[in-house]
Amino acid sequence: MTKNDRSAKLIIGNDTYELDIINPTEGPDVIDIRKLYNEANIFTYDPGYTSTASCDSRITFIDGFKGKLLHRGYPIDQLAANSHFLEVCYLLIDAKLPTEAELESFQETITAHTMLHEQMVNFFRGFRRDAHPMAIMVGVVGAMSAFYHDSTDVTDPRQRKIASHRLIAKMPTIAAWAYKYSIGQPFIYPRNDLNYAANFLHMCFAVPAEDYHVNPILSRAMDRIFILHADHEQNASTSTVRLASSSGANPFACIAAGIACLWGPSHGGANQACLEMLKQIGSVDRIPEYIKRAKDKNDPFRLMGFGHRVYKNLDPRAKVMKQSADEVLELLGVKNNPLLQIAAELEKIALQDSYFVEKKLFPNVDFYSGIILEAMGFPKSMFTPIFALSRTAGWISQWKEMIADPQNKIGRPRQLYLGETDRDYVPIENR
Ligand code: SDX
Repeated sequence: MTKNDRSAKLIIGNDTYELDIINPTEGPDVIDIRKLYNEANIFTYDPGYTSTASCDSRITFIDGFKGKLLHRGYPIDQLAANSHFLEVCYLLIDAKLPTEAELESFQETITAHTMLHEQMVNFFRGFRRDAHPMAIMVGVVGAMSAFYHDSTDVTDPRQRKIASHRLIAKMPTIAAWAYKYSIGQPFIYPRNDLNYAANFLHMCFAVPAEDYHVNPILSRAMDRIFILHADHEQNASTSTVRLASSSGANPFACIAAGIACLWGPSHGGANQACLEMLKQIGSVDRIPEYIKRAKDKNDPFRLMGFGHRVYKNLDPRAKVMKQSADEVLELLGVKNNPLLQIAAELEKIALQDSYFVEKKLFPNVDFYSGIILEAMGFPKSMFTPIFALSRTAGWISQWKEMIADPQNKIGRPRQLYLGETDRDYVPIENR
């Protein structure tokens, strides 16, 4: 961390406070306000953290104006084209692309941990059949701390490593079993002869009654979707994982908290909400009606899959996702998918509309993902679990970075208090 030769001067009444400015390697400079409250007895105020850096990190960088996303410096489009998800997991966690030997060893470790403790099957059976798979994932991942005691001590680097591998390895099994449970089919166990994405598709779509062959183009598309969702700076769910971890809570509980946050329709739940919106629009000629609603301040309707706190240009993941959608739908012989046509027309109309242009609202990662996933055979309730499965790599890498940081301390925001000042209790007979 290097100080800028400039500093910030804050003048409050007759007092002037000099604050250091810190240089990033990319992105805006930051003003270090850590001493402000102690020196000036004043808080900063930034609900939603629109102008606040909650931490320093070396994992992912987003340039929202250029539509750029880097993982350890590598652009997302290059990783999507040339890498695969487990290699991206290694890159996020260990800060470098692995050698062949390192990658082989990592893949073997992950493959060897894909099974769940057999008793965990009972957790799934405790849910109603119509439980949303995200509800099941929150519960089962949180319960992992009751089964894997030997990897819950976050002060032990070896236990942290084991917990990281267990989570990355077991998330596909948990997501697939949540799906199987919801459709009343038997659980399909992981297979060590399949790669990560193919294994997930196999556990989701195979049945004991017959052989199931994973289409290599679909598993490549699945793997690319995993890569595109892997990490994204300090988004809401990652910030949730960091805040939960700052108290020293075990990694399974922290990842369960991240899953719960990701479920929201403004965040990872937008892929499901976007597909529901496209179906609600139903035809290209009804798009203007929905654009009008999205622009109406008095209408809570928003274009799901559009807009982003950071991207003020096209989300680079949406660009790759759109290419993948064209490929997968072509392969599946559903190129003229009506939803894809509505989505493409909606994107075109919105990006010509001054409301969206002035507010810099572009399609984000969730705009096209649902179309691909539905075409691959997933129900919309599985879209966010797939996002959570992939984002576990990012949550784990951010968690590891934070826990290993000697400056790490419990996160405890302050507030702007607007409530009642102190007053005496009123006995009930006098109220
Ligand atoms: C993800 O943070 C991440 O990195 C998240 C993520 C990741 O990988 O982790 O990228 C994943 O969560 C992607 C976003 C998925 N959510 C959606 O697609 C839901 C629809 N989008 C919106 O809800 C919204 O755009 C957010 C939540 C994504 C961002 O909201 P912000 O940054 O708080 O922006 P805002 O709500 O202040 O909007 C700014 C203006 C507002 O109008 P004004 O009050 O200024 O007049 O733009 C409008 C909003 O009304 N606006 C929209 C809109 N999004 C914002 N209007 C219509 N449709 C939309 N989608």
